[in-house]
Amino acid sequence: MPLPDEFIYQLKLANPIDTTMGRYVHLIRSGSNYKCLCPFHSEKTPSCTVYTGTQSFYCFGCGAGGDVITFTKQIENLDTYEAIKLLAERGGLEMPENDLNKDGAKLKLRILEMNREAANFFYRNLLQGQDKRGLQYAVQRGLTPKAIKKYAIGYAPAAWDGLMKHLEGLGFTREEMLSAGLIRQNARGCFDFFRERVMFPIIDLRGNVIAFGGRLIEGEGPKYLNSGDTPVFKKSRNLFSLNFAKNANVKQLILAEGYMDVIAINQAGFEQVVATLGTALTAEQARIMAQYATEVVLCYDSDSAGQNATHRAINLLSEAGLHTRILKVQDAKDPDEYIRKFGATRFKLLLDNSGGAINFELARCREGLDLATEQGKIDFLRRTVQVLAGIRNEMEREVYLSRIAKEEEISLDILHSQVKAQLRKSYYTEKKQSWNAMMAKSSFRDELNPEAPQYQREAKAEEQILAYLFLHPDLLPEVEKRLKPEHFFTSLHRKIYEVFCERMPETDTFSVSMFRDACSDAEMGRITGIMAHNAEVALTADTLNDCIRLLLQAKEHEKINADQLSDDDLLSIVNQARNKN
Ligand code: UTP
Ligand code: MN
Repeated sequence: MPLPDEFIYQLKLANPIDTTMGRYVHLIRSGSNYKCLCPFHSEKTPSCTVYTGTQSFYCFGCGAGGDVITFTKQIENLDTYEAIKLLAERGGLEMPENDLNKDGAKLKLRILEMNREAANFFYRNLLQGQDKRGLQYAVQRGLTPKAIKKYAIGYAPAAWDGLMKHLEGLGFTREEMLSAGLIRQNARGCFDFFRERVMFPIIDLRGNVIAFGGRLIEGEGPKYLNSGDTPVFKKSRNLFSLNFAKNANVKQLILAEGYMDVIAINQAGFEQVVATLGTALTAEQARIMAQYATEVVLCYDSDSAGQNATHRAINLLSEAGLHTRILKVQDAKDPDEYIRKFGATRFKLLLDNSGGAINFELARCREGLDLATEQGKIDFLRRTVQVLAGIRNEMEREVYLSRIAKEEEISLDILHSQVKAQLRKSYYTEKKQSWNAMMAKSSFRDELNPEAPQYQREAKAEEQILAYLFLHPDLLPEVEKRLKPEHFFTSLHRKIYEVFCERMPETDTFSVSMFRDACSDAEMGRITGIMAHNAEVALTADTLNDCIRLLLQAKEHEKINADQLSDDDLLSIVNQARNKN
């Protein structure tokens, strides 16, 4: 049962496309529209346009496009129902009753209940269980009672079925436990996934326990075990301790590597700290952070793995529009150890003095090079030019450029021309990449509209007709009289026309959303593409008429061809005539 139109209409009013997209990307005004770096592919010059008039977006680089719901689905990795739910929540609207996804929603609720019970079970077991090793470990790692309570730290008992029995007693089934990732199954049966581990519940922004991380206290095995993805948990989309950090009110987030680092930094008085969950930072996580902060202080381990991870994170964070600073812990392997060794005050000093990402990258240029040698100097210069060319803001680039020139005693002109050349090179590489992607998509095969490559001229005409009608829906009744869906040569354009003819009379204004029920996300992208591509050329009523005429004539022509006899028939007629003679 689809959701009522009125609800979708209200939903879109409450979530304008520019406000919604502005949560994830930095929008640059361009007339009545906006431009931005496309969040769906990597680029350095903005090719994504946000159309406020039609409440849609389209990326000229990768072809992504659609309305606010399509956007939310793609950026948050949700299905349609979940995306609508999220937008409804943001807009303060209540979801209408709907049978769809009811079973899925029920299971999710059960998993959340189960996780909460499990967290309680682990917590009680840490404090009151017979086996005191978990508590001893926590205390020895410097966790205060306050932190243990705040983070609901627990201990998973050594037994194979401690949690399983407990949850069974509460009426949960093994199937439910399996889907929550709390137990595993092998040939011999089911068993607890977490055993003999200090447990860190992962809590989402609504206070739900969505997953766990478990730290080994002794013996063999991976140091940390994390819940796998479940219906309520996606590693790549959550951050440890964001439930606390979001309330910090400082527009800053500290990003650390591990659970223990987060808790140590939090204990030291910084509420704004988060960590990824056993994986490298993802673009999704960077975008989530951008919703709560304008600046991120990266506070990774001091080893080379940590420094490489810092380098990768800088790029992702800057793509999400975040300003990045780097906190380098010295004489300790990670922030947790640093705070234990030197205390909270020294850590605050480090935090206040953390340098910019560009300085971090520039300093890295020296690594492994012997600057006393010619080759070392050349390599250093090459890397430096790369870094400088990566600075988007021109003024900022100038500042760093002149500083480096002075410090390294390089001629300013040479540095300038090298950076300029590099900028040109990356500009063309990017253009070429998006051009290649477009060619690969459009001209050889078109999966969305399979007939298009064969009927290029007709497909173009169809596109222009659609684009013109989207802008002037009042002309539809006239056009409909002459142009029928069967006059279209390509199936996608025909479908769009059909849906348009059907839905337009029911609404006052044109909106891409009218296609949502009938079209996939990719098709929605194509529809906004048709609007976007043709918005740049001025279509006139004459163009419209020419295009309609072209289609009608081509159809006629095709019909004549179809009416023509096959070679075999022709041959037999000719032969018959010959025989008569
Ligand atoms: P670290 O190895 O730096 O751990 O991994 P740590 O946080 O310093 O741990 P302690 O201080 O020894 O307890 C950083 C993060 O990487 C993930 C965990 O999320 C950990 O917090 N990790 C690490 C795993 O998921 N699995 C592992 O086996 C190790
Ligand atoms: Mn550590």
